[in-house]
Amino acid sequence: MSIEFREADRLFHLKTPASSYFIELIRDKYPAHGGWFGSLRERKGSREILRRDRSFSPNPTAEDRSFSLDSLPLEYSAWGRTDLRSPALQAVGPDGSMSLDLEYREHRILAGKPALTGLPSVYVEDDTEADTLVLTLEDPLTGLLCDLVYTVFTRRDVITRTVKIRNGGGERIVLQRVMSLCLDLEHSDFTLMQLSGAHNRERHIHTRALYPGMQSVESRRGTSSHQQHPFLALLEGDAGEDHGTVLGFSFVYSGNFLAAVDVDQFDSPRVLMGINPFDFSWTLGPGEEFQAPEAVMVRSGEGLGALSRTFHDLYRSRLCRGYHRDRERPVLINNWEATYFDFDSETILNLADEASRLGIELFVLDDGWFGERDNDLTSLGDWFPHAGKLPGGIRPLAEGVISRGMSFGIWVEPEMVSEKSRLYEAHPDWCLRVEGRHPSTGRSQLVLDYSREDVRDHMVETLCGILGGNPISYVKWDMNRHLTDVGSRLLPAERQRETSHRYVLGLYDVLERVTAAFPEVLFESCSGGGGRFDPGMLYYMPQTWTSDNTDAISRLAIQAGTALVYPPLTMGAHVSAVPNHQTGRTVSLKTRGAVAMGGNFGYELNLLELSREEKGEIKEQVELFKRRRHLIVKGSYYRLLEPWKRTDRYAWMTVSPDKREALVLFVSVHTESNHPYLSLRCKGLDWDRHYSINGKGAYGGDELMEAGIRLPYPLLEAEAHEYHLLALD
Ligand code: DGJ
Repeated sequence: MSIEFREADRLFHLKTPASSYFIELIRDKYPAHGGWFGSLRERKGSREILRRDRSFSPNPTAEDRSFSLDSLPLEYSAWGRTDLRSPALQAVGPDGSMSLDLEYREHRILAGKPALTGLPSVYVEDDTEADTLVLTLEDPLTGLLCDLVYTVFTRRDVITRTVKIRNGGGERIVLQRVMSLCLDLEHSDFTLMQLSGAHNRERHIHTRALYPGMQSVESRRGTSSHQQHPFLALLEGDAGEDHGTVLGFSFVYSGNFLAAVDVDQFDSPRVLMGINPFDFSWTLGPGEEFQAPEAVMVRSGEGLGALSRTFHDLYRSRLCRGYHRDRERPVLINNWEATYFDFDSETILNLADEASRLGIELFVLDDGWFGERDNDLTSLGDWFPHAGKLPGGIRPLAEGVISRGMSFGIWVEPEMVSEKSRLYEAHPDWCLRVEGRHPSTGRSQLVLDYSREDVRDHMVETLCGILGGNPISYVKWDMNRHLTDVGSRLLPAERQRETSHRYVLGLYDVLERVTAAFPEVLFESCSGGGGRFDPGMLYYMPQTWTSDNTDAISRLAIQAGTALVYPPLTMGAHVSAVPNHQTGRTVSLKTRGAVAMGGNFGYELNLLELSREEKGEIKEQVELFKRRRHLIVKGSYYRLLEPWKRTDRYAWMTVSPDKREALVLFVSVHTESNHPYLSLRCKGLDWDRHYSINGKGAYGGDELMEAGIRLPYPLLEAEAHEYHLLALD
């Protein structure tokens, strides 16, 4: 078992292959955090938890001034008694006060990992993969029960956490804040790493030293957002890519979140991660329960690279699900940047003709195929074919594509409604709105109220009708605005602040029903690019459109930040036209292809406007990707340069599980005359094998990893260099 309980000293030992996490029951009442170390055989107490009378840390009783929750590393902290740090749990009790005192009641250790009802989570395929500890705490005054749930993986350095709150009392309790994760660390010698950005600039890596007080990232936008990301890493001391202790925290949720580190008066950080309490409350009647989303914690004693690979393996194989999980993904062409709204069946089939000649496997019909959608002002919600563009409907067009040897995919935006639409005319109350106010728009559209069952049923029926009635093998599920006027007609006043979370639960319900009904359809999630690239969405849809920014140079930082947590197999990456539509930059087709091959490869440009030479090059790229995409599916990802330290050069490589094949990519973004002669040290190869580079030579794995590959001189701007390594013995 990966969880041991030592009765004598009331100590839990949670063991992953390379780490030991301790929980100590202090006074048999308070679960204290006993440290998260590299793997220990056992803990005898060489580093006991100290208790001293520390000024301005209050005490539950005057008899023992050395005891205060304020100075104890806690596993979970409730607000109202002696812990004055940022709490994990806050609730208003029946008397209107906000005071909780959580005491240990019991615990259970289970084989395996229970699923979370209605929420996405990491899973196991058999019970030997993990064990789960459920620690139940209770507030004696209100009867509120709190199950702290830890799943410890036996073969991965992963511990997942969640919390279930139950109202065991006789009266109403209103939850104000329920963090899924609370971790008290002892010292603050850490660098905080976060992924922040904007539309077209998602998930750039930012670092900063921890300082006293609160440092946090959060979303109040109703989705995980382009702006901040539900992930934090803490790098201890001088930890870096390949050495040192790094802790990573990722939240399996697609709505408003808070990810925070609060460094207290003693320089001890508390990590918190959960639903953003900013505009949240949840009323629990007697006997009712609230399930918090899951947070995933990874510890690496070998730097950030190993941390990323642990997240990649976990998310690729135990978060993503279904038919496509382990399969190579089709090379696609999407008509968005080729035509925008200006197309008809003939345009599409002409593009499809050319695409099929180039070996492309999937045609994706993007926005504009439905209602009267000739621009973004209208028709969301009216999911019937545009009479002018698709006079015969979807089927003949899909069949036309299929007859050209490709499969057919379609774009939808099912969470939205345009004010100018039949759906809105029929059901103006189906959107999120606050009584007495006209709802505000974003991209001229309103958000459907997915907290309502009738709205969800309508959308499931509509989507199942489209997918069931047509030969569609791929769906791009888009979401192009954030939530405002967050209120629901069907909820009473005291439950209005539940709307955002109920929206996310509703979305998960719809996704579960639709994806389960069409298990072989490949679903790609999108929110104006990567505005909802999060583990919650990956549970339902195994890939995400990484960014609306298709510029190969901009993509380097975006893909590097994304790959901190997510494997390349989850990232959509396309070659688009030059000058690039988002940045105006012109980059060679070779570099555009090489960068896009860092994810699920495709094209998003008008093939009919290309020269013969360009089409020839595209044909070669497509063939090349098909030969190498198994590395995207199963390969391990190594950063060769650290993208948070320099942005003038990027390099990474992907190595097959048997280490017999690898692909190295180097891109120089900026260059200067007379730069030094440079080389690139490989990683993850077999020390004892010999490898050819691009079909030539025989170089030892040791040489490639120690001496490295010589880069060309001089390096040119925006130039990619690829090295395909193949084992010879
Ligand atoms: C935003 C997406 O990210 C784009 O790829 C495209 O699908 C547009 N929406 C269509 O409106």
